[in-house]
Amino acid sequence: MTHVIVLGNEKGGSGKSTTAMHLIVALLKTGNKVGAVDLDLRQRSLSRYLENRKKFSDIKGKDLPFPVVSEVEASSLDSREESRDQETQNFQNALTGLEGCDYVVIDCPGANTHLSRLAHLHADTIVTPLNDSFVDFDLLARIDPETGRIAGPSLYSEMVWEARKRRAMTGVQGGIDWVVIRNRLSATRARNKKNVGDKLDDLAGRIGFRHARGFGDRVIYRELFPMGLTLLDLGGRNSPVRLSTMSHVTARIEIRSLVAALNLPHPEIHEEAA
Ligand SMILES: Nc1ncnc2c1ncn2[C@@H]1O[C@H](COP(=O)(O)OP(=O)(O)O)[C@@H](O)[C@H]1O
Ligand SMILES: [Mg+2]
Repeated sequence: MTHVIVLGNEKGGSGKSTTAMHLIVALLKTGNKVGAVDLDLRQRSLSRYLENRKKFSDIKGKDLPFPVVSEVEASSLDSREESRDQETQNFQNALTGLEGCDYVVIDCPGANTHLSRLAHLHADTIVTPLNDSFVDFDLLARIDPETGRIAGPSLYSEMVWEARKRRAMTGVQGGIDWVVIRNRLSATRARNKKNVGDKLDDLAGRIGFRHARGFGDRVIYRELFPMGLTLLDLGGRNSPVRLSTMSHVTARIEIRSLVAALNLPHPEIHEEAA
């Protein structure tokens, strides 16, 4: 059975593509067959990350693990209904092309598009990275400005709720595990960090997600993109680039912790290859 992991929220720049790429490599490195789908047809960050990886691997002669990539095309039909039907078909074809993968990682655009809603409907696990700020928190829930209390779910939460409902109606086995992570945590904004964290814990039970630790704010996450590498490709005897600082070692630990927190099926059968 293929386990589908969807990276989603309705905001750009919160770390979906970066997290998608790191999850893909983490799963590849533990011996899984991984499929990748980039639904951000405009920015194509995940596709470009993978293209850079291919170039780097060819130029340097490095043997790097790759996912199987399936492309989904946007529809150019004018009629809204026909265009949705066509995109649904394109999406289904992409998933069919990835049958036999242990995992499929789908990176969504930061907007509520038809393709993004489809992906959420097919998710076994949704991972939602948030920047550590109340602006991002606002996508999950509204906070009463007077009391500071949570006033109710907001747009993205309702979209996930709808996906859960529709999935239950179609009789697909198992629910959707929704994991919210705070990305780009900075050590210097401890007070805000605590506030957002407390509110997330508060909200988790009410709208049904789990709150896990994300990645720290580290330059290395941005620097590796042109080479198509992740922190998990560094270090070890055959490493294409040397791990240079303690902070990189810590960063690798936080990526592995995230994978562990996702409670993915059968992690114990895979020994980390590198
Ligand atoms: N933990 C992090 N530390 C530092 N920079 C990060 C981190 N996560 C993401 N970034 C950077 O933030 C920007 C947005 O990240 P990206 O993954 O493209 O977000 P999204 O896919 O949600 O739009 C990119 O420039 C990326 O390199
Ligand atoms: Mg992106």
